[in-house]
Amino acid sequence: MSARAGTLAVTEAARRRTFAVISHPDAGKSTLTEALALHARVINEAGHIHGKAGRKSTVSDWMDIEKARGISISSAALQFEYEGSVINLVDTPGHADFSEDTYRVLAAVDSAVMLVDAAKGMEPQTLKLFEVCRHRRIPVLTVINKWDRPGHEALQLMDEVFLKTGLKPTPLTWPVGIAGDFRGVLDRRNGTMIQFTRTAGGATLAAQAVLSADEALAAHGDAWTTAVEESELLSADEADLDVEAYLDHRATPVLFGSAVLNFGVSQLLDTLLELAPAPGPRPDVAGEPREVDAPFSGFVFKIQAGMDSAHRDRLAYIRVCSGVFERGSVVTHAASKKPFATKYAQQVFGQSRETVDLAYPGDVVGLVNASMLRVGDSLYVDSAVTFPPIPSFAPEHFAVARANDSGRYKQFRRGIEQLEQEGVVQVLRSDRRGDQAPVLAAVGPMQFEVATHRMKGEMGAEVTLDRLPYSVARRTTRDWVTQLDSQSGVECFLRGDGEWLALFADQWRLGRTQRDLPEAVLEPLVAATDA
Ligand code: G4P
Repeated sequence: MSARAGTLAVTEAARRRTFAVISHPDAGKSTLTEALALHARVINEAGHIHGKAGRKSTVSDWMDIEKARGISISSAALQFEYEGSVINLVDTPGHADFSEDTYRVLAAVDSAVMLVDAAKGMEPQTLKLFEVCRHRRIPVLTVINKWDRPGHEALQLMDEVFLKTGLKPTPLTWPVGIAGDFRGVLDRRNGTMIQFTRTAGGATLAAQAVLSADEALAAHGDAWTTAVEESELLSADEADLDVEAYLDHRATPVLFGSAVLNFGVSQLLDTLLELAPAPGPRPDVAGEPREVDAPFSGFVFKIQAGMDSAHRDRLAYIRVCSGVFERGSVVTHAASKKPFATKYAQQVFGQSRETVDLAYPGDVVGLVNASMLRVGDSLYVDSAVTFPPIPSFAPEHFAVARANDSGRYKQFRRGIEQLEQEGVVQVLRSDRRGDQAPVLAAVGPMQFEVATHRMKGEMGAEVTLDRLPYSVARRTTRDWVTQLDSQSGVECFLRGDGEWLALFADQWRLGRTQRDLPEAVLEPLVAATDA
């Protein structure tokens, strides 16, 4: 790569912010996504890009199941310009059963926004995803949402964030008026008030006015005084912004807002620009950093097929790590060392797709019909690099898959292979069971629903899944397979990534086997909770 391209990559990386929103379903992630895009003037009325049943077009109607269930399984990236910077918002699935997908998405971002419902506080799925951020050391900004509705007290919410995450909340803004009587926020860094004015249905940009402290006192009296006093309490408790602590995963800056009313959203964008890390060097599998100005490199964090009928194809989403991605260039697939032509490269969000000609570190590119690519694969130009694999979660649900029509075995096999490559389910095989009846393994049972649905609709092979009575998986080695298989309530399989797994009916069997065969390697796999 020329020195000029290297410089360009550095400049472009510096003005990018690539992040994901983590939250419990219903906290307002879709609404916030719309509001962010609205603020960036991508759309001029909320609801055009993203949403659920009832809103206009939705990102999540790629699959019938998603439609029927009103959940979002698909991931995509929304890119927009804001104040001279480029924001990449990588979407995460809304349902806990797809947390493995979210885990992969979190491998592709540089920071996260934790969205908390003011009335519900820290909910389980938020915490699970937070744990993934902690594990990956992704800096987290917190947004307390739905402040227009009755909810917990702001100080109480700060305590909860601290107790459950261990991160020190350092509010940048503080609400004026209790939850449900939202008047605006105190900007804790300059002492002014950002006043909220309600607009019809929150469908357009919220009107905001900045008031001086005196004006705020005159207009809001006690509500203002309380906000100022509480903010002083926070300062006394050293809960003021500490950028280093945020980047080092010890503190989380906090904003208050209402996504549905589009309030707090511009503050979030400004905060992302000011504080969130830009794409930087990424360690390879040996821990060596791939510098941003090195020749192009990236890795696949998501494969998606079976989107709506207008685009029945397969997309591999790449996060660009270094250099400049140029559509049409030939890159090397690190796993096979084979060349790969990037003729069709797209940016995908919702149903809109645009051809991408150039992309820079932090960007997400969808490569169309890249059938050789698997989740975790690295791509590069010139100097070779392999990024660390994205670990698979420990599955907790298992089912034998059988083709209903034995005449369609070929379609069945191909279909299962495709689902495995996309990471829709994990596929386990053993000599004992043979290739006719592979075992599908999932973190959440809804993954099975998606697999069955797609096998029938897309792959032309209806399947029956018979659940197996296992609930715990541990890693083992080839040497122990025969002995472990001879125990009751234990069965060993080879997973697609070459890992040997021992499945146990329950914790009790696992404990007993650990006692009986103390030498057997029975290491825990990455689990949703200890990821
Ligand atoms: P999700 O993607 O995190 O699952 O949540 P989503 O944005 O779909 O929001 C869930 C519900 O919460 C929606 O209501 C949405 O309108 C509402 N909501 C989101 N942000 C706010 C907010 O700041 N204040 C208030 N009061 N409500 C908010 P719904 O009734 O389920 O759907 P809809 O018919 O309003 O779209």
